[in-house]
Amino acid sequence: MISVSIVAVTSYTGLELVRLLAQHPVFYVSSVSARSAVGKQLGEVFPQLHAIGGANTVRRVDPALLVTEEPEQTDVAFVCLPHAAAAESVLKLLTRGIKVVDLSADFRLRNVSVYEEWYKHVHPAPWLLETAVYGLCERYRERIGSAALIANPSCHVTASILALIPAFAHGVIEPQVIIDSKSGVSGAGRSLSLTTHYAEVNEDVSAYSLTGHRHLPEIVQELEAAARDGGHPVDDALRITFVPHLIPMTRGILATCYADLKPDVHGRVPTAEEMYKLYEQYYANEPFVHVVNQAPHTKWTYGSNHCFVYPIVDARTHRLVVVSCLDNLVKGAAGQAVQNANRLCGLPETTGLSSVAVYP
Ligand SMILES: NC(=O)c1ccc[n+]([C@@H]2O[C@H](COP(=O)([O-])OP(=O)(O)OC[C@H]3O[C@@H](n4cnc5c(N)ncnc54)[C@H](OP(=O)(O)O)[C@@H]3O)[C@@H](O)[C@H]2O)c1
Repeated sequence: MISVSIVAVTSYTGLELVRLLAQHPVFYVSSVSARSAVGKQLGEVFPQLHAIGGANTVRRVDPALLVTEEPEQTDVAFVCLPHAAAAESVLKLLTRGIKVVDLSADFRLRNVSVYEEWYKHVHPAPWLLETAVYGLCERYRERIGSAALIANPSCHVTASILALIPAFAHGVIEPQVIIDSKSGVSGAGRSLSLTTHYAEVNEDVSAYSLTGHRHLPEIVQELEAAARDGGHPVDDALRITFVPHLIPMTRGILATCYADLKPDVHGRVPTAEEMYKLYEQYYANEPFVHVVNQAPHTKWTYGSNHCFVYPIVDARTHRLVVVSCLDNLVKGAAGQAVQNANRLCGLPETTGLSSVAVYP
């Protein structure tokens, strides 16, 4: 058995980790921490956890576990803090020899000045940006296995880049892309805010951060890298318009991405069948990314670590349109974090993540 710890267990992503780890066959949760619940039992904070395990089963998470101020010694820690607070915690954990999967944005961007520009915060450990590995198994599987610090991707970004990486890696689209991404309210976390009150969100849809969202530099970084690694560098030509929308649902992200297809020397662009095949081949061996032949629904992903990708070609405009969806708290956060931790610990990537969506 491998011990894991959850930092900021009172967060939505922390609670989702508890739910997933309760079914994990190898990991067990040895400690949980959160400043607002110190000294309480985990089952007091989240009474639904009393349903975990029973007299004859091994409890991977014990509802009687006391919430502490600081994580205890463990093999792997999942850090579910907001950015800035996360970096401070990660630093302490790494100095104690603990491997870390950080769910915040603090170690996702490789360039410290880009981080400081977008997050308006002086990075406390810029030297770690060189060694932190971006936790997208579909791209960096080998490096994740030997890392000490994994930067778990953002939820919107995971949906968007999984939709676009095959096209960039094959150099079949122009580097001007529009991403229209919609997310459920849990994407904003548990902290109270006027914009996420029931009366504000219910029966409402709105766009936000139209002049530039913090996830944009992460999308740019990863699409540039995919194009470069695929032998079709885009360099300074990449222009991404990313517009997130808030939707009145609890979980889920649906990203619709648009890009012009590149004509070949005869002025011909790939057909819908060719694009579908390209995507299907690209993700052929991926356990959690499924290329489908109809527009996917967020409900297909509710509570599961799966992502559905649907590429089509608009023959009238010679444009590629890709729809991608996932559960922001699972493939967009806690599930992806477990996938990374599995890899980090030499386990099959799918361990403990086999469940399909709750539907309807
Ligand atoms: N929600 C998502 O869908 C999602 C997806 C991908 C990534 N993420 C990232 O994952 C991290 C956690 O997100 P979340 O949505 O799960 O968060 P959340 O529900 O808003 O919870 C935030 C947690 O951080 C703690 N906290 C807040 N400020 C703190 C501080 N200054 N010092 C110590 N503890 C502090 C809170 O603890 P108290 O109980 O003590 O207040 C709470 O446990 C964030 O970095 C977020 O960007 C979230």
